[in-house]
Amino acid sequence: MNYNSTLTGKKILLGITGSIAAYKSILLVRLLIKQGAEVKVVMTEASKEFVSPLVLSTLSKNEVIIDWKSRHQWNNHVELGRWADLMLIAPLSCNTLAKMTTALCDNLLMAVYLSATCPVMVAPAMDEDMWLHPATQKNLQQIQSNGNRLIPVAVGELASGLLGPGRMAEPELILESILDYFIASKEFAGKNILITAGPTHEAIDPVRFIGNHSSGKMGHALAEAFAAKGAQVVVVEGPVPNPLNRSDIRTIRVSSAEEMYVACIDEFPSADIAILAAAVADFTPSTKALQKIKKETSDLTLELTRTKDILKTLGTLKKQNQLLVGFALETENEKANAYSKLKAKNADLIVLNSLNDEGAGFGVDTNKVTILTKHGKEIESPIKTKKDVALDIIEQIKTFMHESNIA
Ligand code: CTP
Repeated sequence: MNYNSTLTGKKILLGITGSIAAYKSILLVRLLIKQGAEVKVVMTEASKEFVSPLVLSTLSKNEVIIDWKSRHQWNNHVELGRWADLMLIAPLSCNTLAKMTTALCDNLLMAVYLSATCPVMVAPAMDEDMWLHPATQKNLQQIQSNGNRLIPVAVGELASGLLGPGRMAEPELILESILDYFIASKEFAGKNILITAGPTHEAIDPVRFIGNHSSGKMGHALAEAFAAKGAQVVVVEGPVPNPLNRSDIRTIRVSSAEEMYVACIDEFPSADIAILAAAVADFTPSTKALQKIKKETSDLTLELTRTKDILKTLGTLKKQNQLLVGFALETENEKANAYSKLKAKNADLIVLNSLNDEGAGFGVDTNKVTILTKHGKEIESPIKTKKDVALDIIEQIKTFMHESNIA
């Protein structure tokens, strides 16, 4: 496997807890730095007994963070959690493991962990009996089901003199797990993804428009997840309250359905996958007043014309190796309506969300979707964050591509 430059520029936050294995973190930091990673270290008070912060700050070329403040400066745990591409807790002590299951936030490392928006890997280290204790095993299950990745312990000589499972994985093995993670996470490298997001605004006059409540959050979550997996992403974004602002994602800002249509027609030929998550207006005023409409008459009747259906148009232009994903927001006969949309618009997958489900739909950070494929597969999920829904959609896209022999 070619590991060259996989870690170049990657930001890794190393959390060190109180365990004898903490001495191995010196080698780990060296290995990561040698691979081109940027490393910041967060330690617990207890871990200082096992490894010197001075050595770690010298090797990582960054100040080691232990407390809420250092050099009269407040250490912003949220910023640290957001800075990293990956947080690695190695060694993970039994104590910190237990805190991770209950969100017990009594030190800076826990605050950083709880704020981390990046994936988290853990390399536990403890004595055999502690490791085998049902409570420890239960905690390990729990943190894994919360999404943390486990680097398995090794079997060998332990600090107690016993021989058994519980040794922290050797730094070289931890490095390999990190490299594997970053390589696997680039599974969409070389793929071009087109995503539409947000609402459209259909002008009535220079100050008024017809719009909707779409926040663009689902489209943004998809764009960010694809970018993290190495794809080249372009987002055609309607007027959202918080526009996407990422240097690794190209964003085309549009206002009306017509502008979104033009941008999509332009971008679609080079897209491998197009996901139309925007809530495009179906109607637009037939004429747009050049001046503000005055309220001289008591009533005003607006004549509306149908907008162009972007999904349907892309469905007619779609080549065999292109994949088209639509969204459907339904309030009644959800599945039946979604299937007819899938067929009518020649989509491969439809992500159905129902406004009847609490926590799904506009503005909120969560969503509850059912993914329907043109092969008749239905994948229903419980309510999740839009980030996790994005990952589920990507999983189903991968499965669909695999099943349909799309490279
Ligand atoms: N869509 C589109 N262009 C439009 C309208 C919708 O690309 N002018 C896309 C949406 O982005 C979504 C899918 O079509 O991926 C379904 O949109 P929706 O509004 O739910 O369905 P419509 O086809 O507009 O049907 P209806 O409003 O009657 O439910």
